[in-house]
Amino acid sequence: MRNKPAITDHFGRRFPYLRLSVTDICNFSCTYCLPDGYKKVKGASPFMHTDEIIRLVKAFAALGTWKMRLTGGEPTVRKDFLDIASGINAIDGIEKLAFTTNGYRLPERAQSYYDAGLRAINISIDSLRPAKFEEITGHDYLAKIMDGIQACYDVGFESVKTNTVLLKGLNDDELDDFIDFVADKPISVRFIELMQTRDNQDYFKAHHLSGGAVTEKLLARGWRLKPRIDGAGPAHEFEHEQSRGTIGLIAPYSKDFCKSCNRLRVSAKGALHLCLFGEGGYDLRDLLQNDDQCEELQDKIMGLMNFKKSTHFLHDGNSGAREHLASIGG
Ligand code: 5AD
Ligand code: SF4
Repeated sequence: MRNKPAITDHFGRRFPYLRLSVTDICNFSCTYCLPDGYKKVKGASPFMHTDEIIRLVKAFAALGTWKMRLTGGEPTVRKDFLDIASGINAIDGIEKLAFTTNGYRLPERAQSYYDAGLRAINISIDSLRPAKFEEITGHDYLAKIMDGIQACYDVGFESVKTNTVLLKGLNDDELDDFIDFVADKPISVRFIELMQTRDNQDYFKAHHLSGGAVTEKLLARGWRLKPRIDGAGPAHEFEHEQSRGTIGLIAPYSKDFCKSCNRLRVSAKGALHLCLFGEGGYDLRDLLQNDDQCEELQDKIMGLMNFKKSTHFLHDGNSGAREHLASIGG
């Protein structure tokens, strides 16, 4: 393969990190994402096959991508999820393979995920209260997911993180519970500001909360902002001398959020998305059909980088064409 420089854009940003969705399907029905559950779209093109995924990742790896995350929908609902993970793990240059999951079968599957080469996991936990968790996700799975977190430590995961979407009136009173939760384990809890999508406009108005409130409370309780490490993503991480775990904040509505953008996304149907909130996506699928298309695919990806903009336009209430985040994996 050719040796090319890492993918860059016109704003001096580098993109060593690819988030790849493997399915739009999800078995949860989080109120901010898929309140009525996943609905199959008639006549829609199928999700990429494993061979297409492997070709795609080989092209990205040849362009310097070394960190990858598998997302969905819920990526683990794919029957061939483990094959996809181990196939990617075997590709030269891919050093860190992570995935995001709702954790619905984590206690029994943590070992197989690890064996497939996955080393970092992000689990969605929107509440530490079982009834509230069920109200938000549609499933009474909190206890099971907590067992799953323990299973991740037991099998040897290098990084365990959780995501909590900050929801006014639903979980914004739980910060102290999360602080207790991280005290004794090497976990990183991340609060994510609720993002507006096409489908959640009223919900967004009712429940969006700025992350500033979390920052203020953390500082008041003696937490300190950790120094940024080079190449880190847009999360702000806080630490406390009496806590093993950390608490992070992902605030896409904050000033300068996009300056540290280091990731590209590819949808389950093989479209390159230069931004979570960009319109549409650039179809790469016709270049995923043969192994000998790899160089052409690399050229196409590099060419498309010219279209990457400096920032999203969320502040103007413009969420692009994104109907919900299950279609691109948050
Ligand atoms: N705003 C913020 N986060 C979201 N997620 C899904 N939809 C939204 C939204 N509208 C999160 C999930 C999960 C991650 C994959 O993306 O809760 O933690
Ligand atoms: Fe599924 Fe994640 Fe959307 Fe919840 S937020 S419905 S777990 S894709």
